[in-house]
Amino acid sequence: MANTPDPQTSIPNTLKAMKDQFGREIDYLRISLTDRCGFRCRYCMPQEGVLKREHAEILSLEEIAEIASAAIECGIRKIRLTGGEPLVRKGIETLCRNLKQQPDLHELTLTTNGALLAEKAAVLKEAGVDRLNISLDTLRQDRFRYITRCGDLSDTLRGIQSAEDAGFCGTKINTVLIGGFNDDEIPDLVNLTREKDISLRFIELMPIGEARIWPKSAFLDAATVLQRVPELEPVGSDGVAELYRLSGTAGTVGLIRPLSHSFCRNCSRIRLTADGMLKPCLHSDMEIPLRGLHGNALTEAVKDGIFRKPSQHHINRDGISGTVNRLMSQIGG
Ligand code: 5AD
Ligand code: SF4
Repeated sequence: MANTPDPQTSIPNTLKAMKDQFGREIDYLRISLTDRCGFRCRYCMPQEGVLKREHAEILSLEEIAEIASAAIECGIRKIRLTGGEPLVRKGIETLCRNLKQQPDLHELTLTTNGALLAEKAAVLKEAGVDRLNISLDTLRQDRFRYITRCGDLSDTLRGIQSAEDAGFCGTKINTVLIGGFNDDEIPDLVNLTREKDISLRFIELMPIGEARIWPKSAFLDAATVLQRVPELEPVGSDGVAELYRLSGTAGTVGLIRPLSHSFCRNCSRIRLTADGMLKPCLHSDMEIPLRGLHGNALTEAVKDGIFRKPSQHHINRDGISGTVNRLMSQIGG
């Protein structure tokens, strides 16, 4: 291999993504802005919500911007803002503007449940957010209320429309596939891609958080989508999702299979929790405290987290070996 040039040696230092101990290039940071959420999705949160952290426990937007800058210095090129529900965080648009001023950041995206999007889509677009992911598990009002415990389907549908009206392109709709709950809606959900240029992605339910004790029948292989809609044709992969399309339609249908280990081999992401912990892997309890660090100490801590990212998770349909002490809403999906 001595003759094979390292493709990275010819590009300027500022464009290099850092590699972890297993050679994966880590260029993607997901930032949880808050644990809070207006919904209480049954697989994600208990009825009573998460134990509310004191305001002071949560990173300020200035602290988040400082950590994000350090991460960009370490080679992070894509940032996704998550929660809980990121749109409940006041001042989010100021943070977005601030992040977009960093020339080495190539992409700023945001994951939302859509409930507050109708009022925020235009300002987020103006603040520089490049793309949105919107969670939508069902198209039926009664089921939406059931799964979110308090959400209103029409708010999220209005949010999706507002995103389009505000000029967002390539919006992704994320649907957690839940056996006995929404598998009979697979064809209806796939049909959304006929009319709009959206990418609909079915995510396999993971046995973590509230879903840890759910019956086996709730955990479906994402291949179920292909059995229910055999007309779907494979059109490649975007790294995270296997992509399919109905012939002649605008949008795509993606399958996200977090339980498969090839997912870990291609993983390029790290996470920052709302209380300032760097989490190199969603399914590991490894956490590196970043709060209170500045300058070189901060960048070194981020580099350390990237380097020590675990090789893969040990999660399967029966659950996780090892513990994950935080709920999904506390990590940011
Ligand atoms: N399995 C799969 N996806 C989950 N999410 C939350 N909990 C789980 C789980 N147990 C998803 C939400 C949303 C994102 C924030 O994380 O549906 O799309
Ligand atoms: Fe909120 Fe998302 Fe969790 Fe639902 S899954 S309760 S929308 S954070």
